[in-house]
Amino acid sequence: MQLRKENILIVDDDVDILELLHRHLQSWNYHTFKAVSVKEAVAILRDTKIDLLITDLKMPEIDGSELIKFVSEHYPNMPKLVVTGYPSVQDSLAAIKSGVADYLTKPFTKDELKEALTNSLLIPKNKHKKEVGILKEKPKQYGDIIGNSEKINQVIQIIERVKNNKATIFIKGESGTGKELVARAIHYQGKFSRAPFIAVNCGAIPENLLEAELFGYVKGAFTGADTNRDGFFQAAHGGTIFLDEIGNASLAVQSRLLRVLQEKEVVKVGASKAEKIDIRIIAATNSDLQDMIQKQTFREDLFYRLTVVEIHVAPLRERKDDIPLLVDKFLFKYGVEYKNRFVKITPNALEILQRYNWLGNIRELENVVQRAVIMSDNTIDVEQLPEHLKYSFDFSEDKLLPLKVIEKKYIEKVLRATGNNKTKAAEILKIDRKTIRQKLSE
Ligand SMILES: Nc1ncnc2c1ncn2[C@@H]1O[C@H](COP(=O)(O)OP(=O)(O)OP(=O)(O)O)[C@@H](O)[C@H]1O
Ligand SMILES: [Mg+2]
Repeated sequence: MQLRKENILIVDDDVDILELLHRHLQSWNYHTFKAVSVKEAVAILRDTKIDLLITDLKMPEIDGSELIKFVSEHYPNMPKLVVTGYPSVQDSLAAIKSGVADYLTKPFTKDELKEALTNSLLIPKNKHKKEVGILKEKPKQYGDIIGNSEKINQVIQIIERVKNNKATIFIKGESGTGKELVARAIHYQGKFSRAPFIAVNCGAIPENLLEAELFGYVKGAFTGADTNRDGFFQAAHGGTIFLDEIGNASLAVQSRLLRVLQEKEVVKVGASKAEKIDIRIIAATNSDLQDMIQKQTFREDLFYRLTVVEIHVAPLRERKDDIPLLVDKFLFKYGVEYKNRFVKITPNALEILQRYNWLGNIRELENVVQRAVIMSDNTIDVEQLPEHLKYSFDFSEDKLLPLKVIEKKYIEKVLRATGNNKTKAAEILKIDRKTIRQKLSE
């Protein structure tokens, strides 16, 4: 029996219907994916190439019509089939308007399903194609890492090379660039994913405790040590330990760490005997270790042991093409969390997000989108964005320009930020509308 190549996603909060659809589709050799909610459906859409969506309309939390809108925007070529128990005229009109291929009411017979299915799959591929929404293709995602820029693809390529071995990995990058996300992807995408992943923030544990926390201790090692205890290293045996902010590890911790890397063994605090350990170490930092080596606060020998494989996670301003993908993810995440729907963004607002320099990187972008979702109804527009974003201006450092050019660029920027509202722009610039026109035509 050969499986057809089509992947069909079925969405219904009623598991009996879901099972029934699944059984019928299977009997015709389709490959099916099941979701009991819109949230689950979107998660599947992000990871899988789906050829047809079959969805219920009335569902708790987010309604099926929201899912249809979402699919129409993000996957304009995907045919959709609505199966519903409430065939109200309004539902069908709205569904057909938003590009649904066919419409089936419950209860349905196997033949009716077959016919609807064949019709839906036969719809010419480009029939519903219109460029709406911010994404024209399936979002790129690797583990939880979103992005399709060259910089992110390079990171993913390295992860692919290292995920199935235990080479020590060093991740560097500014705060909020996604270093921890990369560490998790290395662990969870690889073949040791079932073993533990333990993340330790070396900067958050007081220096005098870090050694015992990491390597464990034996009874009597220090006052208060009344039993033997394992540390994070023993707990992560077989898996991965992620040492975040490694620059904060004391010299005592550093020398124990060196021993783990060289001998593959751990010595508990206060113990004389070492224990063998099988572990992958991933370390990360946003501080300059070279500088610390100069100042003799970081061991050079440890540095070389740690940096067998180096991954540099670029700041967001160097991979701005990822911004729409990230915004889309956060719109979905917070739209569902706060509004139970998919919140949209206008092209003007998105453009402002794409121009900004994001010194706080993805964490800052996420905060801005989160706040904007809370402040908006269904759509984020320029008004919902913080002021400092709208009027910030990126003066290129290497290209010095005449004042007139900068002035014109800045006026254009303010106009964009105000949605081309000259009165508002004039107010912000503290010049009159006529002057704006003059300066632009110069
Ligand atoms: N490529 C990405 N796709 C989706 N989410 C991302 C991406 N990069 C970062 N994030 C999100 O941004 C936030 C910050 O990421 P993370 O904690 O991994 O950064 P970090 O580099 O470890 O920062 P810090 O140095 O401050 O610890 C997290 O909520 C993370 O989920
Ligand atoms: Mg971090």
